[in-house]
Amino acid sequence: MTAIMTAAHGEPGGPLTLIERPRPVPGPGEILIEVAAAGLNRADLAQRAGRYPPPPGASDILGLEVSGVVAAAGPGASRFKTGDRVCALLAGGGYASHVVVDEGSVLPVPESIDLVTAACFPEAMMTAWANVFDRAGLKPGETFLCHGATSGIGVMAIQMAKVYGASKIFGTAGSEDKCALARDLGADIAINYRTQDFEQVVKEAGGADVTLDMVGGDYIQKNIGAAKADGRIINIAYQNGMTATVNFGLVLMKRLSLMATTLRARPVPEKSRIRAAVEKDFWPHVASGKLRPVLDTVYSLAEAEVALAHMDKGGHSGKILLKV
Ligand SMILES: NC(=O)c1ccc[n+]([C@@H]2O[C@H](COP(=O)([O-])OP(=O)(O)OC[C@H]3O[C@@H](n4cnc5c(N)ncnc54)[C@H](OP(=O)(O)O)[C@@H]3O)[C@@H](O)[C@H]2O)c1
Repeated sequence: MTAIMTAAHGEPGGPLTLIERPRPVPGPGEILIEVAAAGLNRADLAQRAGRYPPPPGASDILGLEVSGVVAAAGPGASRFKTGDRVCALLAGGGYASHVVVDEGSVLPVPESIDLVTAACFPEAMMTAWANVFDRAGLKPGETFLCHGATSGIGVMAIQMAKVYGASKIFGTAGSEDKCALARDLGADIAINYRTQDFEQVVKEAGGADVTLDMVGGDYIQKNIGAAKADGRIINIAYQNGMTATVNFGLVLMKRLSLMATTLRARPVPEKSRIRAAVEKDFWPHVASGKLRPVLDTVYSLAEAEVALAHMDKGGHSGKILLKV
C-alpha cells in the first residue's frame, strides 16, 4: 500500500514523503478499508513534531480518521461486507491507501453523503459525544459554551448540541467570518475572542451549563467565571498552556465539575461504545442532512505537507481532508 510517513526513516519533524508498505491484514474483529479520504486533526501536527507518539500497538503512520470502502473482513468481523461504504475512527494509520481497524470503530456512510466528505465526521462526532454528552452530560434545555466553534471538532459539537435541544449555544472564534459560520451552524451567540471578553458575554447572557474547551491556560479561570451553578467544564486540549493559576473558590461555591479526556488511547470496547451511541443518537441526523459536514479544503495524499501547514496556520474552518 501507499502511505505518508514522517521522513524516510520515521524521524519526527522531518519532511513527509510517500512510501510503500505491505498492505495490513485484518485480524479478529477487524476490517480492511480501502481509503477514499483521511481527515486531518490538530493532533497530527503534534505527532509529526514528535510530541504525541501513537499509543502502544497503533500504526506509526499519521491519521486518526478515514472514509472508504471495505476491502476485506477479518475472522469474526460481521458488521460490514466487502464493498460497503464506511468511515472510521482510528488510533493511527489514516494517511494511507489502506488501513485496518476494529469494526466497532466504524460507521456506515449514508447514501446521501459523498464518500470523500464522509471523512469529516468520525473523530469530530465521537469526540463531541464522548465529552459534551457522555462525560459532561449536556441535557436538553441546558446552555452550552463551545470554544473553537469553527474547529473540526467545534462545527460538529455546536450542531449536535442544537439538534439535542440545548437552550442557548455560545461559540468562540477568532474572526467575524468564523463567528458568522458559528451562527449559521446553530450558535445563538458567537463571540470573537480577539475583540470580546467571552467570560463577560456568557455571564451577562446567563452562563454556561456545559463548556467544551480546547484552549486551557487563562481560559481555565474564565470558564469557571462563565459557568452556571452545577456547571461542567471539560477540556480536550490546552493550546494556551497546561498550567494556570486558578482560584478554586468559585468551583466550590458554584459546585462545578472540571474534567478532561482524550479519545485516541481509549480501549477498543470503549471506542465501540462511543461509536454505537453516535450511530444511534446522531447518525440519523447526518443521513437526513440536519447535521452537515463543514469541509474547508481537499488535498491529495501526496500534498500532506501542504495540508498540515494549512492547518498549522489556522485559517481554516471545519475539516481539511487528504483524498487518496
Ligand atoms: N482530547 C481529545 O480526545 C481530542 C480529540 C480531538 C481533538 N482534540 C483537540 O481539540 C482541538 C481541536 O481539534 P481540531 O482537529 O478540530 O483542530 P482545529 O480545526 O485546528 O481547531 C483548533 C481551534 O482552536 C481554536 N483556538 C485556538 N486558540 C484559541 C483561543 N485563544 N480562543 C478560542 N479558540 C482558540 C481555533 O480558533 P480560531 O481558528 O477561531 O482562531 C480553532 O478553532 C485541538 O486542540 C485537538 O488537539 C482533542
